[in-house]
Amino acid sequence: MPEAVLQRAAAEMLDWQGSGMSVMEMSHRGKEFGAICAQAEADFRALLAVPEHFHILFMQGGGLGENAIVPMNLSRGSKVDFVITGSWSAKSQKEALRYCKSHIAASNADSQHTQMPAPSTWQLSDDASYVHLCSNETIHGVEFQELPDLAALGSKAPLVIDFSSHVASRPVDWTRVGLAFGGAQKNLGPAGLTLVIVRDDLLGHALEICPSAFNYRIVADNKSMYNTPPTWGIYIAGLTFQWLRQQAEGALTGVAAMEQRNVAKARLLYDFIDASPFYENRVAPDCRSRMNIPFFLKDESRNEAFLAGAREAGLLQLKGHKSVGGMRASIYNAMPLEGVQALVGYMREFERSHA
Ligand SMILES: Cc1ncc(COP(=O)(O)O)c(C=O)c1O
Repeated sequence: MPEAVLQRAAAEMLDWQGSGMSVMEMSHRGKEFGAICAQAEADFRALLAVPEHFHILFMQGGGLGENAIVPMNLSRGSKVDFVITGSWSAKSQKEALRYCKSHIAASNADSQHTQMPAPSTWQLSDDASYVHLCSNETIHGVEFQELPDLAALGSKAPLVIDFSSHVASRPVDWTRVGLAFGGAQKNLGPAGLTLVIVRDDLLGHALEICPSAFNYRIVADNKSMYNTPPTWGIYIAGLTFQWLRQQAEGALTGVAAMEQRNVAKARLLYDFIDASPFYENRVAPDCRSRMNIPFFLKDESRNEAFLAGAREAGLLQLKGHKSVGGMRASIYNAMPLEGVQALVGYMREFERSHA
């Protein structure tokens, strides 16, 4: 979280703008929260240049909830194409099987999720109701540097992206997307809020079994207030959207500025790892994530010492996901360049004293 956002939330915690209430105490149908929610939606739309024919829905259930909610709303019970590039897209495919048929159009499992299957090799179906991919695989550190143009690949299906772990770190080409979903907890705010951005023509096709609270048509018609939305999460995410809009790098502002900053942060860490005989990153350079950088000590017997020293240096949460092992630096939007410099400084010193 950006510190400025936490400071502002702290200052407004007991009394939001003279209302006499904490945001947590407001009715979600009151005018104060209505204003917070409308502002958050407008700021997100401006931040990511979301076109008017897309709805911005504030929901609950997280990324994994959406793995069920998306097929219930979009699959019409027929077939969905999946592009598997890591464990999150694999999980999405498994969950979808409860609601629809699935076809794996491409997978990088053979490379242990370290390479991006070229879109020209994808086996897309003629009759898929949508194509699903995870645009940033948080665990494996694999990111789409460009979203595929499905029409150019011969598919008429809309593209669904899980952008949970890199939302607002780079612009989105909405001409290539039908629906994007993401949990807020990486780049936007506290856990408990899920964002769904969905093109208008994809609403209204939910399966009979879809709960009303998860039916995109109903949620959209009720402006995300069909049931009580995660008000605190929307408020904090709204402050984060404002913070993001204010960010600048030279002439660039907002997400373009964040992208430039994220490129610089990621390059610093990857360049250091690639130049070192002591560490390695196994992901192909053309699909390396800017947000989640898994890396390994070539001598893994030093892992515990590396983590203990990192903790002492104030560098936390560096242990890799248990399914991959090694280390992982998650350098989300709010992590400043100085944080990555501190990590590289520590890694260099650890290498010097242990090589
Ligand atoms: C890309 C991606 N998708 C889905 C999820 C699962 O999200 P949640 O825990 O909000 O259900 C995560 C969580 O880390 C993720 O990184």
